[in-house]
Amino acid sequence: MISIREYKEQDAESNQKHANNPNVARYLFQSFPSPYTLNDSIWWISVGHKALRGMHRAIDLDGECIGSIGATPGVMEDRFSWEIGYWIGQDHWKKGYGFNALSHMTDYVFHNTNARRLFAPVLGPNKASMRLLEKCGYNLEGVHECSVFRESEGGFLDEHIFARIKQ
Ligand SMILES: CC(C)(COP(=O)(O)OP(=O)(O)OC[C@H]1O[C@@H](n2cnc3c(N)ncnc32)[C@H](O)[C@@H]1OP(=O)(O)O)[C@@H](O)C(=O)NCCC(=O)NCCS
Repeated sequence: MISIREYKEQDAESNQKHANNPNVARYLFQSFPSPYTLNDSIWWISVGHKALRGMHRAIDLDGECIGSIGATPGVMEDRFSWEIGYWIGQDHWKKGYGFNALSHMTDYVFHNTNARRLFAPVLGPNKASMRLLEKCGYNLEGVHECSVFRESEGGFLDEHIFARIKQ
């Protein structure tokens, strides 16, 4: 079973191993490095995730960092609306770990922060992420047609906005 925890310095190698995969990076923001070097990993663990607002955690399986999940609040009038993002190493896909991580993080953010709304923008072809969000109680709010341009994916992609509101 996985858990969500703070990053440790020793995570750099396993984080890099799982992150350095074009199939993991494919539908993430293009700020996610691909290839993902050990230096990228050391930077993310020591500096990068701390520089972001919100909370950004390792997904841990038996002591190994196999992925990442994070939530970032908006600013000013959007400050109660937090964006959530995640990835898991491909060796560990389709074992229910995404469901465990996202359910846990959703509950944690709603109970421990001011977040009223959690949302995730998902690129049209990323069916795994859409199904995961639905399974965790997120609803499709709308589709931003052709809002993203990815040459590597053949051009314009739609962005599907999923959200869950704290009741
Ligand atoms: C999205 C991601 C985190 C899913 O993680 P996971 O651990 O495989 O998810 P789970 O095993 O908990 O599966 C959750 C649901 O999604 C479904 N699912 C998983 N992969 C799928 C796929 N490729 N196509 C369709 N459904 C899929 C599962 O079957 C399950 O639904 P079910 O219970 O109805 O069968 C993982 O694919 C990933 O890291 N992708 C790359 C990074 C990424 O795209 N992040 C999201 C950016 S918005």
